[in-house]
Amino acid sequence: MKKSKSKSKSTPSKQQITAPSIKTFNIHGSASTKAWEFSHHLVPPMTASTTFRLHSLQRGADGFQIFADPQNNNDPIWIYDRLEEPSSKMLEEQLAKMENGEVAVSFSTGMGAISASFLAFLKSGDQVLSHKTLYGCTYSLITNWLPRYGITYTLLNVNEISAQDLKNKKVKIVYFESVANPSLEIIDIDRIAALIAKENKTRKSDDQIKMIVDNTFATPWGLRPLDHGADIVIQSLTKNIAGFGTEMGGALITSRKFLTPVLMIRKDIGATMHPHSAWNIMVYGISSQILRFEAQQKNALIIGQYLEKNNLVESVFYPGLKSFPQFELAKKLLRTPKGEFAPGTMLTFTLKGSAATTEKFINYIAKNGYTITLAVSLGLIKTLIEVPGMMTHSAVPKDKQVDSGIPEKLIRMSIGIEEPNDIIGDLEQAFNVIKKLKNNN
Ligand SMILES: Cc1ncc(COP(=O)(O)O)c(C=O)c1O
Repeated sequence: MKKSKSKSKSTPSKQQITAPSIKTFNIHGSASTKAWEFSHHLVPPMTASTTFRLHSLQRGADGFQIFADPQNNNDPIWIYDRLEEPSSKMLEEQLAKMENGEVAVSFSTGMGAISASFLAFLKSGDQVLSHKTLYGCTYSLITNWLPRYGITYTLLNVNEISAQDLKNKKVKIVYFESVANPSLEIIDIDRIAALIAKENKTRKSDDQIKMIVDNTFATPWGLRPLDHGADIVIQSLTKNIAGFGTEMGGALITSRKFLTPVLMIRKDIGATMHPHSAWNIMVYGISSQILRFEAQQKNALIIGQYLEKNNLVESVFYPGLKSFPQFELAKKLLRTPKGEFAPGTMLTFTLKGSAATTEKFINYIAKNGYTITLAVSLGLIKTLIEVPGMMTHSAVPKDKQVDSGIPEKLIRMSIGIEEPNDIIGDLEQAFNVIKKLKNNN
């Protein structure tokens, strides 16, 4: 008896650690999960079976019965990957914890998650009130596709909405990106949450306005919108959470009461994440996200400060620079769970001169850059550069781009984990080329 007592003391089990920090949790995950039994493994085994063996007809029927039941607390009954499967379930448990949500639902892409958030909670006759600066495909989804199903939209500056804007009973969703792509505008979530809460007091429960926040740029390390009153958070996992540019994925993180329609719509539209992607994002992405984000963020400030000093540069926007127009709001909202300022890994700038100068600069980097690649996507370990108006945001009509926070010459950079002097070296060469052009004119 005595012996076994001392043995259990010298071999503590994981369950004994009750509240690990999120940094530690991202590495180890839950000590045990109902999703899969893997007590012999250091890393959960990768599952890959589109369909599951059911030992009786009753078990099959029970599986369909309990699917998407938010109250079900029994062991899951796996049926078919498009409904739910173990690898993405484990990933979802970790994502929910990172965003301080009760549940997460994974999708094949970020756009899959965004589409599901609209399809699950809107019907014909409803209206989406959205910030006017949005990722190009989200803009296209709201302005091109939703109207076909009788769902209207209003695009405006959500930082300026008033109680009056929410009085329209058709408005069911207020949608925005916590840090807007590509303008990097910070949205004052607390203010909007307070306005929505006030309006919702006048509405019946099935008429309530939901606040949906795409938190991709900030990542859960930099901001947790659910803590500020958001109902639903979206992540494109393709970006900083997966981090290496090898996986696509999306997630919707929310409270248990919204789970059923989200799982139902995912089942029926089929935007399900592949289990291999779920496994890679969980094993490699989540475990290293904070380290990568911190290293990228450190570099982003260095590059931002370098650009600020360059006299060929017209303007630089990085939430970590004192010159950033919303520096105070950024400092208030963009905080890690430890309370440190987290201005992020993205910056934008414009060059003096015409759009042709910008094109020459970008083309030089595209051909000669070693650390900087002309490519869409963001949040990765490799530094990327692009021109949103012509690339990621080309779905926004040209005549609406400036009002949507996408000036023609805007250059967006996603900073990686390279040695910052090497990134500056690549920029320096491109600046030398346009300097020569300027001198020759
Ligand atoms: C802010 C934001 N949200 C959503 C998406 C869509 O994500 P995905 O490419 O994974 O569909 C993107 C893609 O760039 C994005 O920048």
